[in-house]
Amino acid sequence: MGGKITEIDTVSLDEANKALVIIDQTKLPGQIQMLSLTKAKEIWDAIYLLQVRGAPAIGVAAAIGMYVLASRYEVDDYDAFYAAFCRDKEYLDSSRPTAVNLSWALKRMEGVVTAHANEDIPAIVDALHQEAMVIRDEDIAVCHKIGEYGMELLKPGDGVLTHCNAGKLATVRFGTATAPIYLAEENDYHLHVFCDETRPLLQGARLTAFELQESGVDTTLICDNMSAMVMKNGWVNAVFVGCDRVAANGDTANKIGTSVVAAVAKQYNVPVYICAPTSTIDMATATGDDIVIEERKPEEIAEMWYEKRMAPENVKIFNPAFDVTDHELIAGIVTEYGVARTPYTESLKAIMDNKQKR
Ligand code: MRU
Repeated sequence: MGGKITEIDTVSLDEANKALVIIDQTKLPGQIQMLSLTKAKEIWDAIYLLQVRGAPAIGVAAAIGMYVLASRYEVDDYDAFYAAFCRDKEYLDSSRPTAVNLSWALKRMEGVVTAHANEDIPAIVDALHQEAMVIRDEDIAVCHKIGEYGMELLKPGDGVLTHCNAGKLATVRFGTATAPIYLAEENDYHLHVFCDETRPLLQGARLTAFELQESGVDTTLICDNMSAMVMKNGWVNAVFVGCDRVAANGDTANKIGTSVVAAVAKQYNVPVYICAPTSTIDMATATGDDIVIEERKPEEIAEMWYEKRMAPENVKIFNPAFDVTDHELIAGIVTEYGVARTPYTESLKAIMDNKQKR
């Protein structure tokens, strides 16, 4: 399939309401290939293999995926339906542990099933369809709001550094960390964006540099070990990154290497902003120490895309997919309800409490 990546929703439901449709991100930037998924194993694999990735996108994919799976259950009674639903829900939840959006979206979908327990199966499936679409639509609106609040932290001509991909490919549209950049571009800010390549799986090089360049944003790709140099040179006014889970005290898990960027930014007085939909804020997790960090296969480091070995055979390899940036290194957490500032224990609580009341 051709077309521009920025014109295609990263995650969607097909027109017949029968399949979860994703852009296969492992093929980017060379090829824009869509995948239609209808089976639990296909959806689990797509999330684990990073064909769909980025915290908000995997939440939306899980929600739409659960609806698709539930619409195919051949059962007549509620108990059998609920048992099948819980089995698939737990299975999808096991695909990746760090991004809280996955379990957040699955819990929302389960809440719909239990709330409609007295209705017949087609009515429950219909309610699941509606909820999946609400989760998708919320993602679009939330990213737009993050863009508005985030743009207020920028001024025309600024240099911005980002790590990994918290772009439109990590959400349905707009992205989180890129939403302020796209909005600023529409308002003629003429930003300059440095994209860390993001080893080992190169989300920055393959995805962020690709989508920003395609959108006409002035973009420079750098290796991860170059961020200190561009900051020392005074080329970066702000760091904008996404996140996979924000703890109640503001400690933030994001792609491995983010904490290095934040430590370097502190050295050069560059503010670090975390762009966080409230679906990524986990008040049940007290601090970053409580966040489960996914460890992935050593081949991701030892081999380039499982093709060419670059490391000696049998060398020990440590491959955590995420790290935690201490809240002291974060200048602000940009949510759809505004920018939380230190002390985060209070500001995040206020945002989450207000959200409950709306
Ligand atoms: O392993 P990935 O590619 O799913 O990691 C993604 C990130 O770390 C993103 O920065 C994060 O999910 C935020 S996406 C808006």
